[in-house]
Amino acid sequence: MDPMMQDSVNLRIQAMNKRVSDAQDADLYYYNQPIKELRGGARVLVNGREMGMFASYSYLGLIGHPRINAAAKEAIDRYGTGTHGVRTLAGSLAIHEELEETIANFKRAEAAITFTSGYVTNLSVVATLLGRGDYVISDKLNHASIVDGCLMSGAKFLRFHHNDMQALEQRLQQVPDGAAKLVIADAVFSMDGDVIDFPKVVELCRRYHAWLMIDEAHSVGVLGKSGRGIEEHFNLEGAIDIKMGTLSKTIPSVGGYIAGRKDLINYLRHACRAYIFSAALPPAQAAAAKAAFEVILDEPWRVEKVGVNGQRFIQGLKGNGFDTLLTETAIVPVVCGEDETAYLMTREAQHHGVFVLPVVSPAVAPGLARLRATVTAAHELEEIDHAIQVITEAGRKIGVI
Ligand SMILES: Cc1ncc(COP(=O)(O)O)c(C=O)c1O
Repeated sequence: MDPMMQDSVNLRIQAMNKRVSDAQDADLYYYNQPIKELRGGARVLVNGREMGMFASYSYLGLIGHPRINAAAKEAIDRYGTGTHGVRTLAGSLAIHEELEETIANFKRAEAAITFTSGYVTNLSVVATLLGRGDYVISDKLNHASIVDGCLMSGAKFLRFHHNDMQALEQRLQQVPDGAAKLVIADAVFSMDGDVIDFPKVVELCRRYHAWLMIDEAHSVGVLGKSGRGIEEHFNLEGAIDIKMGTLSKTIPSVGGYIAGRKDLINYLRHACRAYIFSAALPPAQAAAAKAAFEVILDEPWRVEKVGVNGQRFIQGLKGNGFDTLLTETAIVPVVCGEDETAYLMTREAQHHGVFVLPVVSPAVAPGLARLRATVTAAHELEEIDHAIQVITEAGRKIGVI
């Protein structure tokens, strides 16, 4: 293909490349910054400098946990590094079944099924469950993988204003009698850190006979006394029909899962194309994930600590004048405004030893670019206070506060 030809594909490629090179020329390019080493739970080596890690999804500080590392190494010794291929034809190992049983128990569900990523889990499960003639009702700030699954399903795709329960009810009322409907939302929103109004969502789903699917990517390990997630947090065990989660955040591995009724999981196992036509999780990752769920239950202090750390960080930043939106969790958006302001804040914070990263449009609405900072159970209070001080000084210098 002639790169000079001005068709829409080339125009898209050129526009993105220009955006990237403009940021690089201005020394404001923070995409895929390479982390060379992890140093303990909360410090990283980036560009030859050690910094405090305030961009991690490892909410309970489990990356590098000796018991989890040992489980992964043992699985390699036992099974090697691969799975021979797709699970249905070649690759189902005992460790996959053990992991799924562990997840089902952790999520207090009858059964569970795993996939190779959280993204693929949402994409494939929504598209498998729903089709033409069905309705899917989705919060406007749901993760991209949910949006993509809704689009791929061919179902009628209705979105409601973020966390607005009146808007959700209006959407439910729009669905014709007899049509299947699925309500889907993140438990904790990945860019804002706020929590879905779960009791009301559950009540509405029950009243309107809708299926409920909740993505617990950012709530497992963070919500609930023992870290089991949003049902435990609100004392509404069993309220979610389709409990989705990832194995790449609190759980220091990779993959995604659905937990739920036995017949639902059995259906997905026989119908989900991402399960049938794609290779299984590598044994080391499955074993690491299984060990991580066990560690969460055995070390409950971690769940408590991430809660305390989150509050310390939010209150400190808010107290110094930052807008942190409605976060209540370990994800703390530090609103900067324009994309460039978020890049400048990132540069300043990293320059002073705090590793944070910017989130800009289209991942968030234009004008709401931010640092998407996080705290974990691996941070000590002094490290959090230091990060607050660095971000505050950056904010004053750049004029965000
Ligand atoms: C809410 C949410 N769901 C799903 C995913 C996808 O999970 P994974 O990264 O494990 O594919 C993410 C990841 O960023 C997420 O934030």
